[in-house]
Parts: sequence; structure tokens; C-alpha cells
Amino acid sequence: MEILHISAECYPVAKAGGLGDVVGALPKYQNKLGHVARVVMPMYRTKFLHDNEWDVDFKGHHRLGPRSFDYTIIKERHNKLGFDLYLVDIYGLLDREKIYGYDDDVDRFAAFQIAVVDWLRHWQFKPDVVHCHDHQAGLVPFMMKYCYDFNYALSGVKSIITIHNAQYQGWIGWDKSFYIPNYDNWKHGMLEWQNSINSLASGIKCADKVTTVSPSYLEELRHAANGLENLFEYEKGKSVGILNGIDNEVWDPATDTYITHQYSIEDFAEGKAANKKVLCDQFNLDETKPLIVFIGRLVGEKAADILPDSILASIYSTQKDVCFLILGSGEPDVEWRINNLTAQFPGNYNAVIGYNEKLSHQMYAGADFLIMPSRVEPCGLNQMYALRYGTVPMVRSTGGLRDTVVDMGDEGGYGIRFIHASVGDVIHSVHRAVEVFKQPEVLNAMRTRMMEIDNSWDNSAQHYIDVYQSL
Ligand code: ADP
Ligand code: GLC
Repeated sequence: MEILHISAECYPVAKAGGLGDVVGALPKYQNKLGHVARVVMPMYRTKFLHDNEWDVDFKGHHRLGPRSFDYTIIKERHNKLGFDLYLVDIYGLLDREKIYGYDDDVDRFAAFQIAVVDWLRHWQFKPDVVHCHDHQAGLVPFMMKYCYDFNYALSGVKSIITIHNAQYQGWIGWDKSFYIPNYDNWKHGMLEWQNSINSLASGIKCADKVTTVSPSYLEELRHAANGLENLFEYEKGKSVGILNGIDNEVWDPATDTYITHQYSIEDFAEGKAANKKVLCDQFNLDETKPLIVFIGRLVGEKAADILPDSILASIYSTQKDVCFLILGSGEPDVEWRINNLTAQFPGNYNAVIGYNEKLSHQMYAGADFLIMPSRVEPCGLNQMYALRYGTVPMVRSTGGLRDTVVDMGDEGGYGIRFIHASVGDVIHSVHRAVEVFKQPEVLNAMRTRMMEIDNSWDNSAQHYIDVYQSL
């Protein structure tokens, strides 16, 4: 089969979170299964762009409402990522340093999607399926089906949309409806949700299949989907939850060049201890105490706002018998509170505000526990990386966290689960972590169990192929 993934992120080209990891890995694994999967994404001004060689694949132009714009599709020359990678260059719109967060993001991603669909109708490799990721590609199924410029050429191409996060939906006021290339007016309902154009809702309505990144998340969306609950209920017949995998080649403690001491399931005790020492020395933490880390966006979804109080109370209530290290960025007041704790607990607490890929690997390797109190977690990759690195995940029982972590109190368990995103539940879990840390045999048996788990894309990549084939 020929598959084209359309996404705003793809690791290592540009990544803001798990979406980038998924789109950087899934196509590679689909190709290994004997299919041809390619990726198209915006051309941002990233290091990857400058460090690699590119060929021009196509040049075209289209309208975005009253303006017209030129676009160029470039292709990476050496298949470095294990799949063909295409970037859409739109001068003045996409060629920026950041992925998101500009005032004209609506214009940027509308133009991106129009360019992709316009290119597709001219393209020599017409795919069997286009696989759209999140709302930044959510209008593509509508355009392929109902926009007069494209629908004739693309009528045979199927589409699926994967929802990595339904909190963000790509709302566009009707005053900008002229951004959508000429379409069958009878179909304007396929764009709309609650009086606005809603890119994600449109994708869900128009795509041939809808997937979410874990089975539990699909269930939850019927009750909590930032306004789209009824739509998920209505479209449940064409929806399926497929658990993300991880890229076992990028995330492998035996070969990871970001960490100072590589290790495997045979020697993890020594390997983790050596990495922990490096981390503790660097951040002035007591290496004899259990080290709990948090890595992620400091936003409400991740319940980062409860971390400062939880940490403070945990350090006091364990009589300083635990250490914490935080890596993340996000809401300014949370960043401020997280930073502010540093002065209060030297030796037990430290934090780095920012994004740091290398440090994140060192933390997965050197930590004893990784905490994720998420209010919403469509899948979550951090806990799977933690498992691969022998680091015990402490997770709230929601979405993909529920699907991937078994509590250590249950048979064969290897993690700590809790019910509420509350300070009380986190403190209770910290006490459980401190207790199990005092029993190295129990802890090491859990580590062996978790490092044996195969969460790689090998299984899930085939699952997606099955979905495509059902079309
Ligand atoms: P989400 O996509 O919702 O942020 P995921 O768990 O799916 O959550 O993926 C998060 C990814 O981003 C992981 O690869 C994680 O290691 C990485 N990450 C998040 N915040 C940071 C940070 N501040 N520095 C480095 N990596 C980070
Ligand atoms: C989103 C979700 C996260 C998921 C990731 C990759 O960012 O918040 O839970 O793991 O997408 O699918």
C-alpha cells in the first residue's frame, strides 16, 4: 500500500511533543512491513532543514481567500529517516522558527493543507490512503471530497484521521470561510461545529476512518472531548483506538548516545546507578534517595499545576527522603512556581525550564521513577520510554496511561497508578515509591518485567495497515 502521512510535526525535523515522535516513527515501521509510507509537513526554519540536502519535487500556487500564494515541495535526498520526507515551503507563512504559536496560525495551516491537496492531485505517486494527524491536517478530507479544484482527481483516495489530542481543534471563524477553496455549498455542515469551522470536527466527519492514540482515550472522548462528545458518539462506528508504539531504535538504553552509561536488561542496576550519579551530581541531588522526575509540557492537561504543592508536601511528609527533578516549559505561573521551589530544597529538588531532548534521555535513564499525574492523556509516550529505560512510571489512571501501566499491587505489575489528579493522590504514590525503593529486590524484579515489555511500533504499525485495508 502507498500511504501519505500529513502532519505539522515529525521528529527529528520538528517536534513539540508526542505527535512528532509518532510521525517520525510510524512510517518507518510501515515501510519495514513492505508498504510505502511517506510524510509531508511544513517547512519550518529548523536545524534539520539546514543540515540536509533537498531536491525540488514540485512548484505550484493556489489561493488563500483573496490572496494567492506560491508553494514549493522539497524532498529530502537521502532517505535519512527511513521514509521519503517532503516539506511544503510557503514563503512568509511556514518558514518560521517555531511550529505553532503565531497570530496567523489559521492562515499558515490552511495554506499548508491547501498546498498539500493541490500537490496531491498533480503527484505521480498518488497514495491509496492519506493519513491526517490532528487538526492541522483536519480539513484535508473535506477538501479531497468536496472542493471542486481537487475532488475529481482525488476521488479514489481514502483518508483517515488520527486524533492525538482533541483539546485543540483548529477553530476558524466563518468570516474566514473563503479560505477554503470553492466547495459544494450543500456540504458546509461538514465543516462546522458549534457555529464555527472546526478543523478537527470536519476531519472526523469527512475521513473514512477515525483513530485515537489509545483505546481508553476513544472511550473517554464520548464523555469529555472539549465540546465534541456527541460527534464521537455519533461517529463511533468508524472509530478505533490504536495504542501508539515507540521507536525502539531511538529509545534504547543500550545504544542511546545521549546518555553517559549505556545499559541493557542484563546490567540495568549498575547502568541506571551510574546515570543517576551523573544526573544527581549535575543537579545537586542526593543520589541515595529515590529520584522522581517529571518531563513534559507544564500545562493543565498534564496537571503540572499540582506539582509544586505535591512536591512540597511530599518532601516534608517523607522527611526529605525523596528527590525530584523537573524538565518542562509551559504556562508562565506554573514555570514560576516550579522554579521557585529550587531555593527551598537544595539537595532534594531541582528544575530546568525549557525544552532539552538530550537531558530528557538522561532523565529517563537516571531516574528511579517518572511521574505523570495527567488530567488528560490520549496516549502518553513518556511512560513507555520510562518502561524501556527501567524507570517505574507513576501515572494517573487515564487514557493511554491506563492502557500501558499495570499497578505493582496487581499480578505481574510494574508501575504505580492513582485515580485523581490531586495533591493527595500524588503524595500517596510518592510514599509507595519511597517504600518500594527500600526493597531493591522487588524494585529490580519490576524493572526486569518492564524492560521485557515490547511497546515498539511493530504491533501498532500493522494495526494501522489493517485499518487502511478495511477501506
Ligand atoms: P505530549 O505530546 O502531550 O506532550 P507525550 O507523552 O506523547 O506528550 O510526548 C511528549 C514527548 O515530548 C516525549 O518525547 C517527551 O520526552 C518530550 N518532551 C516533553 N517536554 C519536553 C522537554 N521539556 N524537553 C525535552 N523533551 C520533552
Ligand atoms: C498528544 C497527546 C499524547 C500522545 C501524543 C502522541 O500530544 O497529548 O498523549 O502520546 O499526542 O500521540
